[in-house]
Amino acid sequence: MTFPAEVQIPTQDLFRLDGRSIFISGGAGAVGTTIGKAILESGGDAVFSDMVSSPDPDTWKSLEDTATKNGTKAWYHQLDITDAESVPKVFDDIRKELRFPFRGLVACAGISGECDACDYPIDVFRKIVDVNLTGTFLITQAVAKEMHAAEVTGSMVLIASMSGLVANKGINTAPYNASKSAIHQLTRSLAAEWGHPQNTFPGRTPGDANPNPNEERKPYPPIRVNSVSPGHIETPITGAAKQRGLVSQWEKQNMLGRISQAEEYRAPILFLLAPGSSFMTGADLRVDGGHCAW
Ligand SMILES: NC(=O)c1ccc[n+]([C@@H]2O[C@H](COP(=O)([O-])OP(=O)(O)OC[C@H]3O[C@@H](n4cnc5c(N)ncnc54)[C@H](O)[C@@H]3O)[C@@H](O)[C@H]2O)c1
Repeated sequence: MTFPAEVQIPTQDLFRLDGRSIFISGGAGAVGTTIGKAILESGGDAVFSDMVSSPDPDTWKSLEDTATKNGTKAWYHQLDITDAESVPKVFDDIRKELRFPFRGLVACAGISGECDACDYPIDVFRKIVDVNLTGTFLITQAVAKEMHAAEVTGSMVLIASMSGLVANKGINTAPYNASKSAIHQLTRSLAAEWGHPQNTFPGRTPGDANPNPNEERKPYPPIRVNSVSPGHIETPITGAAKQRGLVSQWEKQNMLGRISQAEEYRAPILFLLAPGSSFMTGADLRVDGGHCAW
């Protein structure tokens, strides 16, 4: 069973998200709030989630105003994406509020940390991998289950980084870089499984990870999964790097001679979420001012 593409969509609607809900992890952060606003402006309802108890009040007011102006809706839910027990509970709460089923995910939550590899504290290393990789997986799993239960197609955008493709000059972030590289491979793996049931062998070998090997494999509408790999972005986090003179070095490392603004990721992410990218899955969209091409 394959799903036909929606090819008759008018060109001006290729980036529209009407009639769907989109989940955003890291939704109180710089990229998460910027993308969330763009989703609300593009007709989608947005569920912002983050580990902080509430988003910045001024930012949230502006997001609610955007939703009202565009006839869309915004919700905020506190969620630590590494808390495997809380994830399904929070989704049980969210489901009751939605007007439309989830058909999109933007996985923005992420942390970094700088230390020489020889001295890297192992608990910090594990934490970075836990948030950036395992937490991202838990969210994709929860959203895929929502899409399967509602029998709808969907699109997931996992925010990776150019640091998953190259090591950063002048800053020692081994676990961050490794975790972002893992996001590229997670993207391909989930895209393969959720694009069509014939893409992978049914798991017939019993084991701890596969307790029901003979369970019938149900075909679901396809979920597309892609990643975006940003280059350096000017966010509150880069403030410290600026003081150390790192930003002026980064500017020289890409072809446009500057670092990016969070707003420049709106179009790439909307494109991947929306029907305009209907034949794109398992891909990484690198948006880095040419950093990795140089
Ligand atoms: N800023 C950059 O230069 C840059 C470059 C490439 C990629 N990225 C990636 O873009 C994404 C967004 O980054 P940003 O610049 O907006 O950073 P940010 O710190 O502003 O946003 C990240 C958000 O994730 C949240 N978060 C952290 N741990 C969490 C957890 N366990 N559960 C739930 N939420 C959690 C934080 O509270 C924060 O609000 C990240 O994945 C980051 O790695 C950023």
